[in-house]
Amino acid sequence: MAGPQVSEAEAANRLMRLAREIARHNRLYHDRDTPEVSDAEYDALVRENAALEAAFPQLVRADSPSRQVGAAPSGPLAKVTHARPMLSLENAFSAEDVLEFVRRVRRFLSVPETEAVALTAEPKIDGLSCSLQYEDGHLVLAATRGDGAIGEDVTPNVRTIADIPQTLVGAPQVLEVRGEVFMSKADFAALNERQEASGGKLFANPRNAAAGSLRQKDPAITRERPLRFLLHGWGELSEPLGATQTEAVDCLVKLGFPLAKLFRRCADADEALAHYAAIEHARADLPFDIDGVVYKVDRLDWQERLGSVGRAPRWAIAHKFPAEKAETTLERIEIQVGRTGKLTPVGRLRPVGVGGVIVANVTLHNRDEIARLGLREGDRVRIQRAGDVIPQVVENLTRGERRDPFVFPDHCPQCGSEAVAEEGEVDVRCTGGLICPAQRIERLKHFVSRGAMDIDGLGEKTIEEFVALGWLHGPADIFRLGQHRADLLGREGWKEKSVENLLAAIEARKGFDPARFLFGLGIRHIGIVTARDLMKAFGTIEALKTAALGEDGMAELACVEGIGPVVAEALRDFFHEPHNREQLAELVGLARPAAFVSQTRVTEWSGKTVVFTGSLQTMSREEAKAQAEKLGARSAGSVSAKTDLVVAGPGAGSKLKKAEELGIRVIGEEEWARIVADA
Ligand code: IVH
Repeated sequence: MAGPQVSEAEAANRLMRLAREIARHNRLYHDRDTPEVSDAEYDALVRENAALEAAFPQLVRADSPSRQVGAAPSGPLAKVTHARPMLSLENAFSAEDVLEFVRRVRRFLSVPETEAVALTAEPKIDGLSCSLQYEDGHLVLAATRGDGAIGEDVTPNVRTIADIPQTLVGAPQVLEVRGEVFMSKADFAALNERQEASGGKLFANPRNAAAGSLRQKDPAITRERPLRFLLHGWGELSEPLGATQTEAVDCLVKLGFPLAKLFRRCADADEALAHYAAIEHARADLPFDIDGVVYKVDRLDWQERLGSVGRAPRWAIAHKFPAEKAETTLERIEIQVGRTGKLTPVGRLRPVGVGGVIVANVTLHNRDEIARLGLREGDRVRIQRAGDVIPQVVENLTRGERRDPFVFPDHCPQCGSEAVAEEGEVDVRCTGGLICPAQRIERLKHFVSRGAMDIDGLGEKTIEEFVALGWLHGPADIFRLGQHRADLLGREGWKEKSVENLLAAIEARKGFDPARFLFGLGIRHIGIVTARDLMKAFGTIEALKTAALGEDGMAELACVEGIGPVVAEALRDFFHEPHNREQLAELVGLARPAAFVSQTRVTEWSGKTVVFTGSLQTMSREEAKAQAEKLGARSAGSVSAKTDLVVAGPGAGSKLKKAEELGIRVIGEEEWARIVADA
């Protein structure tokens, strides 16, 4: 299965640049009336931003342009913590991917081939997820998905949406309904016409229009925008809605929530794939945009057992429609330097429409990709975009033309340091580290950003100013800014109050959330969700470092729910580098991040370490680990003095022996099942 076409670190870097670039164009356009780019170029930037945000919802920035589209500049909406996380979906791009999904489900649950795995299949609507909370039948709170853990309060706006009932009769006392808020194609076209007539900002697509309309500070504006809603799930409940997805959804329909007409229960994967074909056939005639089909395991007891990994449930998958293609000219190849020093080539295109969206930029990934396609400035290229994924070049149509190949730089375009690819790596990186302004400033900006340490008053301009003054080299220097108080007071634009506020905002971040601290370090592949998973498992940065550097480090890290070998390796690489350890020690000493407070259920097993060994009969190892995690326990790969419990199946060998030697409690699968059931 293919993931998004850029890494999370690249996306984060690009989003930062886009936020800056778009804000600058906004200022030029609105405040000074001197735009530097055409509307099409501006829109392409906004769309690239939206596509990246859709692919990496956890990276949406506080200063994201998508939050500003049409919004009153009166500050952000209030934050809401979701009682149960709002998950996203893994993607499948072929029937084979879907069959593999069903095989994975079978393996996890140990369901034999003779027993069918029924699925529901429904359109994947291209809108934005919304959670609606009802208490005693009254709508009390509506929130956007946000980063999945924390969303934004949009209650007054949602009250203007006609599809959404304000009161329910016969509903459970607590009921959280989840679904998609979207704008129909016709309403989107009409809205853009009105915007054009009134000189307002045009929206790139119905999804952006829906997002811009829902996330308004002023519900009167939302009321003017025809938003719609279709249910696709639920969150917190005081009583179950049914035994299957189909029953539960039926129950919600009876309570008055609209459901996509193309929702269907399918007895098996073949039936689900046939329904995919039917939905794809109907796609062009649907009144709203869809970008695939979502399948969900119908049995809710199975959904429960399957649980989730990272940000996505194991019991659902999105089967995306195939990519749409177009031809255009590659006008320029530009090299960007990211926060991690990676040199990323970006193709600037003659803008072209692909599947209803104008595309002006493509990622060219890396040096090898340019060589593979034989790309040079001026080539005609075929590009494609699939759903939310960033457009990419799939073919060079003028490869045969005799021209010099593109020479990939061997020096950083930002700082002039040598740029090299590590042995076996495709990415070329600037070796300048913190001396490279691109990296230094981007790293600092990331560290203080809203999703990380969230330090108010340390914006981009200020960081640039302090870096230029030599006050900021690395993040640790932020906590030493107090030393420059007197100098700062003498500088233009700084008053007693603003200096006090800044220093207080920094002071307030001492002893802060270690997950956000970890995310702020900008380690490759560590997004906020992964950082939370890691801190949940290890509690402190120090414990994480010990695990990453330990002999069994990779195995121990890979045991953490949601953590794969890529993250484990990135962590090990990071902690192995003496320079990073020094910087981190300094930073931890100054910032003193707190120990992580887990939000999993508190049970007598919270914080305990369980090891599963031998061949388990009634559950897969994956499910066993997930069960331990639900109890608040941690499952480890090897037995040590820190192990609290060993669950042994038949054939358990050295680990069982070691547990016995160390006097650790050993139980069988049946007893484990009782613990899980009783907790
Ligand atoms: S199920 C735990 N069903 O797609 C499952 N999501 O890529 C989460 N979406 O955040 C949602 N149509 O906003 C589901 N029929 C559908 C959907 C759907 C659109 C969105 C949803 C979600 C995103 C994940």
